[in-house]
Amino acid sequence: SIYSISALIAAYLLGSIPTAVWLGQAFYGVDVREYGSGNAGATNTFRVLGKKPGIVVMTIDILKGFTATKLAYLIGLSVTGPKYSAQFVNYELALGVIAVMGHLFPIFAGFRGGKGVATLFGMVLAVNPWAALLCVSVFVTVLLISKYVSLSSICAGFTFPLGTVFVFQSSVKAEVLYSICVCVLILVTHQKNIERLLKGKESKVYLFKKKQG
Ligand code: G3P
Repeated sequence: SIYSISALIAAYLLGSIPTAVWLGQAFYGVDVREYGSGNAGATNTFRVLGKKPGIVVMTIDILKGFTATKLAYLIGLSVTGPKYSAQFVNYELALGVIAVMGHLFPIFAGFRGGKGVATLFGMVLAVNPWAALLCVSVFVTVLLISKYVSLSSICAGFTFPLGTVFVFQSSVKAEVLYSICVCVLILVTHQKNIERLLKGKESKVYLFKKKQG
């Protein structure tokens, strides 16, 4: 229907908002993609511009995924059926994934975007807050111990399918499949990070202390 198509386009456009690029250009005259890891995400904004802009980018990027996913209600308006039917969840996931694609390949920033972690998190938060909480706990724990955001993202990525199956004991095939896809997507977008981690060349991020020397 017209609702479905509008919602899908809206999800892509929402995901396409290149928060890190626009915020850097508007307030610092800097394209964060020219510095640090070259990624247009919250982590690199934190690295290049500092804590405050990093938190702003993270928040907006999470909201992009969350809001896009919630656009399912818009489609839901045009489709009858219970709010939490399998079909409804499928709409949510489709919209969330499209927003993530927008984030990775933003139409507003030459199709060079980020790695999708915050936006994926927004989607998971919208669909399954408990799974989101589990993933964020793993993320924070790994980050505090290792100081590698990429490693934390990857561990959180693995937590999602493992949590779906073993903690939440979902036997819904679509849910399990989708959680595996999220994990694979994170591995794909973090290929360079994985190479750097293996070589011991990944840059660390210090949340509380300033880097010494
Ligand atoms: O959210 C992306 C993060 O996992 C890695 O970012 O800039 O260190 O490649 P970055």
